[in-house]
Amino acid sequence: METPTTIVEPTAHKAPADSSVTLAHIMSEHDTNLYGSVHGGAVMRLVDDAAAAAAGRHAGCPAVTVSVDGMSFLAPVRAGDLLSVQARVEWAGRTSMSVGVEVTAERWNASGPTAKVATARLTFVAIGADGTPRAVPELRPESAEERRRHEEVAAARRARR
Ligand SMILES: CC(C)(COP(=O)(O)OP(=O)(O)OC[C@H]1O[C@@H](n2cnc3c(N)ncnc32)[C@H](O)[C@@H]1OP(=O)(O)O)[C@@H](O)C(=O)NCCC(=O)NCCS
Repeated sequence: METPTTIVEPTAHKAPADSSVTLAHIMSEHDTNLYGSVHGGAVMRLVDDAAAAAAGRHAGCPAVTVSVDGMSFLAPVRAGDLLSVQARVEWAGRTSMSVGVEVTAERWNASGPTAKVATARLTFVAIGADGTPRAVPELRPESAEERRRHEEVAAARRARR
């Protein structure tokens, strides 16, 4: 008797929480600038890493950065601070995804509460095995906040056209 073939379809849609990634990193004195605080570029690298992981998780394949749509530094980061970089896909097109990132710092000397130190939004494109853009699952926002962010990105993209 012939064994029936099971066809596994790729997931047609995902929620923002499915791609959520948190990357933790202790900043070192090698990351500091001449003013003694951590160089913005060191934070941007972590932001790009976390966002790429979230985009890859949504797409189910590697994704490359195509644009940094916004990045705000809200408070200085110091050597020894424990950074938590949280990223999740907030909008998905055919092959592109918009990823929102929030960075918080736990101060190494516990001098204060955890502080929000940066936010960012980046666009990634999923890349298939042939090296070209590949279709990604539809994104279905679930909470009111997820729907608000989804619409915010959609409106920004419409305005850019
Ligand atoms: C990503 C890349 C393959 C896209 O190639 P492309 O020829 O622009 O592909 P397309 O025109 O088919 O666009 C693909 C998607 O990217 C989006 N896109 C392209 N450039 C964009 C930009 N600057 N900002 C936002 N979205 C962009 C398109 O809107 C499209 O989205 P959709 O499929 O959801 O509708 C190409 O630009 C590339 O290789 N860039 C370098 C990426 C890289 O190396 N990053 C690491 C930096 S070191």
